[in-house]
Amino acid sequence: MYSSFTIARKYLHYYFTSLNSKGHGTHSPFVFDFITKVLNDKTVYPEYSAVESLRKRLLRDKTVINIEDFGAGSSVSKTNSRTIASVAKHAAKLPKPGQLLFRMVKKYQPKNILELGTSLGITTSYLSLAKPDATVTTIEGANAIAGVATKNFEDLGLKNIHLTEGNFDNSLPSVVSNLSSVDFVFIDGNHRQEPTERYFSEILPFLQNDSIVVFDDIRWSREMEAAWAHIKDHEKVRCTIDLFFLGIVLIKDEFREKQNFSVRF
Ligand SMILES: C[S@@+](CC[C@H](N)C(=O)[O-])C[C@H]1O[C@@H](n2cnc3c(N)ncnc32)[C@H](O)[C@@H]1O
Repeated sequence: MYSSFTIARKYLHYYFTSLNSKGHGTHSPFVFDFITKVLNDKTVYPEYSAVESLRKRLLRDKTVINIEDFGAGSSVSKTNSRTIASVAKHAAKLPKPGQLLFRMVKKYQPKNILELGTSLGITTSYLSLAKPDATVTTIEGANAIAGVATKNFEDLGLKNIHLTEGNFDNSLPSVVSNLSSVDFVFIDGNHRQEPTERYFSEILPFLQNDSIVVFDDIRWSREMEAAWAHIKDHEKVRCTIDLFFLGIVLIKDEFREKQNFSVRF
């Protein structure tokens, strides 16, 4: 994992070299529309408050759970016992990226959504609420965390989520092959190079022309930056949008030439 100093230095570089938030400088209608109508949509959707109330409750929850460590990503605690509050503080996506994923699903209307790394279900809830008639399939390896997430989905009355418990390494191939299509993917777990690239190649055959894949933490470490660089270079990838922490991948054939954008978020 990079130090805060390295991340800050990289962020400054990104900030001064990325497209501004008005979309000036992009010739892609899709990307311009994404920047102006999705990225910069400042509407406070009513669904946000349901998820943020859940987050507040979890941040106060001192219940101790025993969790298995699934590789890179547990940057804060190496012990197996943590409070739910600590998991909520360190693993859950912040409101800004979670709400962007909500707006992306609302705008692009994917039928089947796949998330790798449920944790307590904060982002899963955003994905679910954005399109209640979509199917949200989410995979989590840590048994106790998956149990808390399941309870959270019940409390929010979310009926379109299927949580699979298991290691992505074993469960991803069968989970994707059981989906009729894979239209929107959020990869947010096991932040190492080889697994990240492998999960992408396992999902790739199931993607449609309009599918969207979002990677989290592309600047988390040297390994994640390397994975992101390889994914950008993949021959099937037609367009990428780098939002510094989040990386968006499109395979649409309307992008005849590969285009990589870096956009301020
Ligand atoms: C960063 S958290 C996910 C946060 C969640 N998407 C959110 O925004 O609230 C990553 C989760 O992935 C799980 N995970 C990491 N590697 C895994 C693996 N190989 N198989 C299954 N789960 C894994 C961890 O247990 C952890 O709960």
